[in-house]
Amino acid sequence: MSTERRDDHYGDSRAPGHHARDATPPELRAGGEDADVGVVIVAAGSGSRVGGSELKQFRWVAGKPMLLHSVQAFHARRDVAMVVCVLPKAFVGDPPPWLFQCDIDRLLLSVGGRERTESVANGLEDLPDEVKVVLIHDAARPFVSNATIDRVIAEARGGRGAIAALPVVDTLKEVDDAGSVVRTVERAALWRAQTPQGFPRDLIEQAHATARSGRITATDDAALFERLGLPVVVVRGSERAMKITDEDDFARADALFAVNE
Ligand code: CTP
Ligand code: MG
Repeated sequence: MSTERRDDHYGDSRAPGHHARDATPPELRAGGEDADVGVVIVAAGSGSRVGGSELKQFRWVAGKPMLLHSVQAFHARRDVAMVVCVLPKAFVGDPPPWLFQCDIDRLLLSVGGRERTESVANGLEDLPDEVKVVLIHDAARPFVSNATIDRVIAEARGGRGAIAALPVVDTLKEVDDAGSVVRTVERAALWRAQTPQGFPRDLIEQAHATARSGRITATDDAALFERLGLPVVVVRGSERAMKITDEDDFARADALFAVNE
């Protein structure tokens, strides 16, 4: 594990005459030479709404540290070439030991920024050359499903931005400062954006470069993509992919997702 780019990552598996893996479809090769998906997991926030001495993304939920859930979910995929975890600066040189309970050949650590957008941009810079499709994921959503990841990757491979999302089911009210309802908002066209969000690498790099030069930040990456007029579609996410935001969410997640390991 290092913060350096590792062009020699696959070592001898590329040697001429090495055909041992050729019969295996690309999607079934663990980090094989055809793996071209890079994942940036942003875990550099301060978790201020949860508070406490331990960082939200390192706290245990449903049986393991929150960040480890998503690192392992992405490492379980054969099409993932590299997972870049973006951590608060103090933890990059001294990561929590449980982070080594994963495929460390496919793990890089990057230093986070003040805003989420900056943390993503730092992670993007560390992706290795073979990455063509980028997934960006919040460590604060530990229960990402493989089917959702499949759908996001499929759209991003088609040249679009793709957001895991769910349609809004509650009736929505616009309310003023005094708590009085101003109007009922038409919800039919409204979706709740989750992560992962996926993009062709060249386009998301361009979107972040443009955001950086304009000093623009956004709460998700698709928004930067949309600003450039690039197409973004939603794919079905899941209620499991809930975001852990405050203390109550820990109890809710523990109750919903009993430890199954
Ligand atoms: N994040 C990040 N860098 C930042 C801010 C946020 O990498 N400068 C990450 C968080 O670690 C989290 C995700 O972005 O995985 C979504 O952010 P959020 O849920 O808001 O987490 P925090 O910013 O840590 O929490 P809070 O807003 O309550 O401080
Ligand atoms: Mg935040």
